[in-house]
Amino acid sequence: MSDPAGAAVVVEGVSKRFGRVPALTDVSLAVGSREAIVISGRSGSGKSTLLALIGGLEQPDAGRVLIDGEPIWTRRHPAHVRRDVVGFVFQRHLLLDPLTAQANVEVPLLGAGLRPAERRRRARSLLEQVGLADRAEHLPSQLSGGERQRVAVARAIANEPRLLLADEPTGALDSVTSERVLDLLFDLRDRLGTTLIVVSYDLAIGPRADRTITLIDGQIVEEGA
Ligand SMILES: Nc1ncnc2c1ncn2[C@@H]1O[C@H](COP(=O)(O)OP(=O)(O)O)[C@@H](O)[C@H]1O
Ligand SMILES: [Mg+2]
Repeated sequence: MSDPAGAAVVVEGVSKRFGRVPALTDVSLAVGSREAIVISGRSGSGKSTLLALIGGLEQPDAGRVLIDGEPIWTRRHPAHVRRDVVGFVFQRHLLLDPLTAQANVEVPLLGAGLRPAERRRRARSLLEQVGLADRAEHLPSQLSGGERQRVAVARAIANEPRLLLADEPTGALDSVTSERVLDLLFDLRDRLGTTLIVVSYDLAIGPRADRTITLIDGQIVEEGA
């Protein structure tokens, strides 16, 4: 990647409804390169929708999202560019079912021009970092929920994205494993300057973040250091 520092994100007056349900209403937010922010709020407050809009998985009804000053959903900022910049840890860790843990982690590395042996080595090292070295050849169906979540984290950080969006990445994990996953995410930020936007209820993450924002009914009600 040409620019090693994290991507900057600007959300400008974004609204999104699903049918008659307003999921987000006029949300604005700026996240600087290398910043780590936590998004909190009750279930249904719009947290996942906000991440999906920032990552370009959903299109806003109004307003816009800019990454590094460039509006997404325009020709100058095509999807494939976004794909190289943004890493996702989804709430429902969407692993590819027919692929082993190892092969899942290799997926983001497929376009990276690595030799297969190097790709395998990197994926194996990432699985080690999330404590799953001995599960590399397991299929997702042979892993627990927490193990699948850790594979999803390893996959999301495999190609060292400049912006990492994580939706409750420690939701199904015990406290020791949660700490290990948070260490991985924050290590990316410290080492590479990756911008982190993490949806979480996990109290352990608050003190690590630069800022916490809280959503209620699709609106930002609070920003605190
Ligand atoms: N694809 C969808 N279709 C219909 N309603 C949706 C969809 N996604 C989200 N919603 C609704 O939008 C609101 C915000 O959802 P979400 O962003 O998932 O909240 P959170 O992640 O904070 O729990 C909720 O009322 C939810 O039911
Ligand atoms: Mg959610």
